[in-house]
Amino acid sequence: MGSFSLLSAAARRLEGKVALITGGASGIGESTARLFSKHGAKVVIADVQDDLGQSVCKNLNPSSTTFVHCNVTNEKEVENAVNTATAKYGKLDIMVNNAGIIGVPKPNILDNDKAEFEQVVGVNLVGVFLGIKHAARVMMGARKGTIINTASVCSRIGGGASHAYTSAKHGVEGLTKNTAVELAQYGIRVNCVSPYFVATPLAMDFYKLDDEGVGSVYSPLKGAVLKPEDVAEAVLYLGSDESKYVSGHNLLVDGGFTIFNRGFSIFEQS
Ligand SMILES: NC(=O)c1ccc[n+]([C@@H]2O[C@H](COP(=O)([O-])OP(=O)(O)OC[C@H]3O[C@@H](n4cnc5c(N)ncnc54)[C@H](O)[C@@H]3O)[C@@H](O)[C@H]2O)c1
Repeated sequence: MGSFSLLSAAARRLEGKVALITGGASGIGESTARLFSKHGAKVVIADVQDDLGQSVCKNLNPSSTTFVHCNVTNEKEVENAVNTATAKYGKLDIMVNNAGIIGVPKPNILDNDKAEFEQVVGVNLVGVFLGIKHAARVMMGARKGTIINTASVCSRIGGGASHAYTSAKHGVEGLTKNTAVELAQYGIRVNCVSPYFVATPLAMDFYKLDDEGVGSVYSPLKGAVLKPEDVAEAVLYLGSDESKYVSGHNLLVDGGFTIFNRGFSIFEQS
């Protein structure tokens, strides 16, 4: 049961904080829930995968972890998830808008249909909007809070995923900046994290990779492989008081992938 007890009180960076994590049943969200819990936070996981979400909670620290069913495209369910966190634990300090889907890989725009495009934008962008809105509703009263949205390297570059996904992730960066400006007057910070490829169910399905295939994915940083835990560390930083003056930022966790064009460089590449 949990790595909760492994850190000393002094080392626990989220002691006494309450966090809500959408998409916390799997992948990056699950890792974030695990790390937050280890650092002393009360964690509410909001997801559409009820059995998985409940088993993650049981596996962490059942006395300080709660699952709530929530489809982030449904405003009532997002409102309920936020209200569950405040009813259960008294407040909401950290909101992580992480739930996401990637859609179906279709390399020809003529095969892309409107409904699929809207579905991806609905979860990945409208879902983030609803999460920010309802977190802000309670954080405004407290005059503090930190909101972290999971964007992607696709918030910065084209060609990494579908049109819908890239559009939504660019939108998440824009929404992060806009809400950071508005909510600063209440002491609320809003940031996003942008991971490069992480071998989660979402990415493995989309890029049609098995365990062996994952090893062949290009890494800009030689000898390093990005794991969900590494992204969780970035979210922990933005959720903790260590980042108290950081707002409106897009924290790229990409080994330098998006700052470099392989087609033109004076430095040797392998
Ligand atoms: N894996 C990568 O390579 C990668 C890279 C960059 C960004 N991301 C982003 O990270 C986030 C997490 O993805 P992951 O890779 O951990 O994938 P994942 O599939 O392991 O986890 C996503 C979670 O979101 C949940 N979810 C999906 N739709 C939902 C909805 N409508 N309402 C509530 N929950 C919903 C799923 O049930 C799942 O538990 C996503 O926003 C994704 O776009 C992933």
